[in-house]
Amino acid sequence: MCGIVGYVGSQSALDVVVAGLKRLEYRGYDSAGVAVLADGGMAAAKKAGKLANLEKELVERPLPAGSTGIGHTRWATHGGPTDANAHPHLDNAGRVAVVHNGIIENFAALRAELAGRGHTLTSETDTEVVAHLLAEEFSACADLAEAMRLVCRRLEGAFTLVAAHADEPDVVVGARRNSPLVVGVGEGEAFLASDVAAFIAHTRSAIELGQDQVVELRRDGVNVTGFDGAPAGTRSYHVDWDASAAEKGGYDYFMLKEIAEQPKAVADTLLGRVDADGSLTLDEVRIPPGVLREVDKVVVVACGTAFHAGLIAKYAIEHWTRVPCEVELASEFRYRDPILDARTLVIAISQSGETMDTLMALRHAREQGARVLAVCNTNGSTIPRESDAVLYTHAGPEVAVASTKAFLTQLVACYLVALYLGQVRGTKWGDEIQAVVRDLSRISDEVERVLETMEPVRELARSLASKDTVLFLGRHVGYPVALEGALKLKELAYMHAEGFAAGELKHGPIALIEEDVPVVVVVPSPRGRSVLHDKIVSNIQEIRARGARTIVIAEEGDGAVVPYADHLIRIPATPVLLQPLVATVPLQVFACELATARGNEVDQPRNLAKSVTVE
Ligand code: M6R
Repeated sequence: MCGIVGYVGSQSALDVVVAGLKRLEYRGYDSAGVAVLADGGMAAAKKAGKLANLEKELVERPLPAGSTGIGHTRWATHGGPTDANAHPHLDNAGRVAVVHNGIIENFAALRAELAGRGHTLTSETDTEVVAHLLAEEFSACADLAEAMRLVCRRLEGAFTLVAAHADEPDVVVGARRNSPLVVGVGEGEAFLASDVAAFIAHTRSAIELGQDQVVELRRDGVNVTGFDGAPAGTRSYHVDWDASAAEKGGYDYFMLKEIAEQPKAVADTLLGRVDADGSLTLDEVRIPPGVLREVDKVVVVACGTAFHAGLIAKYAIEHWTRVPCEVELASEFRYRDPILDARTLVIAISQSGETMDTLMALRHAREQGARVLAVCNTNGSTIPRESDAVLYTHAGPEVAVASTKAFLTQLVACYLVALYLGQVRGTKWGDEIQAVVRDLSRISDEVERVLETMEPVRELARSLASKDTVLFLGRHVGYPVALEGALKLKELAYMHAEGFAAGELKHGPIALIEEDVPVVVVVPSPRGRSVLHDKIVSNIQEIRARGARTIVIAEEGDGAVVPYADHLIRIPATPVLLQPLVATVPLQVFACELATARGNEVDQPRNLAKSVTVE
């Protein structure tokens, strides 16, 4: 939530900051603003609505040129998306400017205190207090980094702050607690951003900031301390993708590009994880095999699409390892006092690595003595940093708010974790593991084949653009796929969409079926678990008899569904547990096309943000 950029160097700060904000707009798009240090003062502009509104404002009322600046793109928490609530926020003298991501929980008390000392606060945000507190502290110490440390010690909640002061024109200061902030180090310039995408066009050399740290950015380097002023150790890393990975590359939307990238993302996530003798070597999983052998319960915590990946992982983990596996929404997890101990393995799945609900769940798990393994797509983000181990997915940057390629790679990673557990615990023989890995390595081509046959799905989606409701049914691993199909449609097409376990229909949801309601049914393979297949064919007949328009996703060669399918979407035959890797793809395409047909913003759906860093 919210994207933040800071820059010190010799380029136009405004150009660098606005270009950075463009890359971070997926994080929030309610309003945007910039501040530049120029001519001994602070010049700022901010505008409600998308970044384009701010860019227009900057053309109509240009800011003076400067080479130090900060910027922000907002997902509103405190105060609506207005010009006044947009960041940066300035103190009364207009000398200090601050941008913020997160929530300052004690802002009301601080605001009252500041008002008592004669400060006038003009917005409804929690952020504005920081500008005023920084101004007070700076007037005493004349050192912005020190002022930031003093202010941070008074703040409660989660925050990333980036600030500049007109009296220190070559300095930008950042601070972080429970919210992302990375440093980019270039030649004679330095960057701060919520995500490396903001500065990848300038440098691929990055530094992770730890919890409760303050960073002072100057042209000739950066200095990192704790909130207490003690020098802090940092970890530098090289970003292994370049600026083109964060561009649309000729597609109308990032989502379309990311859907198309799935074959590569799946293949990349498998790469280098099997050694010459066919055993899995998950180097990053630094939990000793002895500990994994003792695990008596696996708990997956995640949100949204990542949660659906977790639901599918459960089938693989229990089937291949015979260890009980629970899957829980991260936002619910710690509030029910879950039973955890040193023999519990918690798997935290997160594309961004910054989702606050998931982060809080994993912290709770570790406090109870459980080991936490993160499945994550973002190198150096908070969730893997705070976990005992990490298995990175190699989807590359995912910019569209609706998750697509990250989901498929999360599935691959979860299958690998399940197989690895089976390997170390001896519940799977080497040749069995190799057989599944071979199946997995074929999936990339299968996904490619699905993508080549999507035109009828797009056509169908366009024909349903005026519908109010679409329902999704599945059984076994097809059930989470149905949930994922419904989530994609809700967030992109703003339609009523619900996913059900097909067997549950008769217990209530079948009452929703009426004439011509589209129902998407994910049909399990007729091979392997034929009993599941036969049951879902009966479910299709039941809903069709009640007027539903059936959209059936079934594997090639499955003839049994043909008489009952108003629309048939074919997917390649795969082993039962791996079917979600191909069955999800048509649902992504379907939702994307429906959203387009309804005139919605595909990459930036209303009310949402890509990275949810508040609870
Ligand atoms: O970054 P994360 O994987 O932790 O994000 C979790 C959810 O917020 C995310 O999957 C969300 O549900 C997507 N917008 C769905 O497309």
